[in-house]
Amino acid sequence: MCGIVGAVGQRPVMEILLEGLRRLEYRGYDSAGVALWNGEQLQRLRRAGKVQALSDAAAEQPLAGGLGIAHTRWATHGKPTEGNAHPHMSGERLAVVHNGIIENFEPLKAQLQAEGYPFSSDTDTEVIAHLLARELARQPQHDLVAAVAAVTGQLEGAFALGVISADQPDQLVAARKGSPLVIGVGLGGENFIASDQLALLQVTDRFMFLAEGDIARLTCDAIQVWNAAGEPVEHPVVQYEHGTSAADKGTFKHYMLKEIYEQPEVVKATLAGRTSNGRLLEQAFGAEAGAIFDQVRQVQIVACGTSYHAGLIAKYWLEELVGIPCMVEVASEFRYRKVVLPQGTLLLTISQSGETADTLAALREVKERVLASLAICNVPGSSLVRESDLSLMTNAGPEIGVASTKAFTTQLVALLLTTLALGRRHGLAEADEQRIVTDLQQLPQLLQQALELDPAIRQMAQAFAEKQHALFLGRGTLYPVAMEGALKLKEISYIHAESYPAGELKHGPLALVDKEMPVVTVAPRNDMLDKLKANLQEVRARGGELFVFAGCAQEVKPESGVQVLEVPQVSSELEPILYTLPLQLLSYHVAVLKGTDVDQPRNLAKSVTVE
Ligand code: G6P
Repeated sequence: MCGIVGAVGQRPVMEILLEGLRRLEYRGYDSAGVALWNGEQLQRLRRAGKVQALSDAAAEQPLAGGLGIAHTRWATHGKPTEGNAHPHMSGERLAVVHNGIIENFEPLKAQLQAEGYPFSSDTDTEVIAHLLARELARQPQHDLVAAVAAVTGQLEGAFALGVISADQPDQLVAARKGSPLVIGVGLGGENFIASDQLALLQVTDRFMFLAEGDIARLTCDAIQVWNAAGEPVEHPVVQYEHGTSAADKGTFKHYMLKEIYEQPEVVKATLAGRTSNGRLLEQAFGAEAGAIFDQVRQVQIVACGTSYHAGLIAKYWLEELVGIPCMVEVASEFRYRKVVLPQGTLLLTISQSGETADTLAALREVKERVLASLAICNVPGSSLVRESDLSLMTNAGPEIGVASTKAFTTQLVALLLTTLALGRRHGLAEADEQRIVTDLQQLPQLLQQALELDPAIRQMAQAFAEKQHALFLGRGTLYPVAMEGALKLKEISYIHAESYPAGELKHGPLALVDKEMPVVTVAPRNDMLDKLKANLQEVRARGGELFVFAGCAQEVKPESGVQVLEVPQVSSELEPILYTLPLQLLSYHVAVLKGTDVDQPRNLAKSVTVE
């Protein structure tokens, strides 16, 4: 939610800031702005709408300077107007960009208004600008770091901040608590901040991660960091791990399509180095993992959105293959509930970004009360990974499309590996482990075959373009796959989509079924197929049109009102991974037909760092 970029350098930084914003636009895209020190004054340019609107304005009204901060917004407090866009200023001499939410902004605002500070926006951020100006006025030495330390001490909530001042035009000050912020270490004569490494890959591949409560001062030649207690700290400089081309759209029309097509490759990358001779390499989870896994008596999974759906599938695997109880809950509920955590609970968090506010809060809430915490995550230096006892990376590479695709399937691979690791300690037969590992090795090839359904799915998508609603059905591990399919469709095509376990059909949703309600079903050839077919008859009998992704077209025959596409045969454990692909492609093509903004659907953001 919201993207921040900042730069201090010996060369003009405007283009670097704009390019950084373009790369961060997945975090929010309703307005954008920049503030630059041009050697004489702070200049500010803001626009409602996407970064392109800001770029167009900058082309007509060029800003130059070597010190600047920029922001792309996902509105929380106040509408997405130019007046509410960041940076916010106090007077002419201080500018701030902010990601997060200041929970106590109302009393702070009232106090500042009473003291005569004028407010020109509805945002919570503007209080930070005025608090800083007030603090600087009180300090004889006008030290920006000291002012930021004093002000952040008064703020409740979450924030990542970038601050520049006309009175100290050689420096950029940054702070973080609860929202992500990374320092880009320049290659000479420049340094940077950003919400995400991707924004800065244009200028550096060396990064320093700030810890909770840190404040940093960046000049052209130096980076100083203080912790929450005000003590100087040093963080290691880390090299970026993924190739830089991963953040490029290449020849694909949308990031989402590119990311769907990357799945065979990233599944392979997630498996790489984690198995040997048909067995899982437990070390993948860290040296102390084995001893912890021995003591696990139950698993509590916590996640949001698509990652939550991955957790729901893992529950079937863990209970079936490991034989230990598994609970799954969305983080926004879990964190505020009085949860019972029996002895021996492994807290398993799942997150693409590792920065989702609710998932992080859930971890922090119960960390001390569980046996251990394990994060399945796609971003190595993220807060979730740093704060968990154990982690397993999904090597999906950067995912830019707001609707998650390759992150989901690689999460499933990582969760199946986790199931094997726990199973080994809890009686899963070696032969079963070997069978599943062997099947996993075949998976990239099967995913590639599933992608060949693309042209047929594009045809099928036409039946949805004019529809208002759709129903997704599945059973067993394919029920969460149906949930994910419905989520994808509603996220990017804005068609109202619901998912149900097929067995629940007659308990309500059947009442909705008619020829205007397409029903999508994932129907592999497994133990549940006969029961599922009976459910599909119930739909046909009510005139509902069926779109079936089946393991065997002999079993589910195409006929008038029933379209069937055959998905490659796969072992039962891997069905949820393989059957996800056609549903992703279906949503994608429906969205393209409807002409929506596939990679940046309205009202959504990729990384939800506010609660
Ligand atoms: C947002 C994204 C989803 C994602 C969810 C959880 O809603 O749009 O694609 O599944 O956040 O994000 P996480 O990074 O924790 O997986």
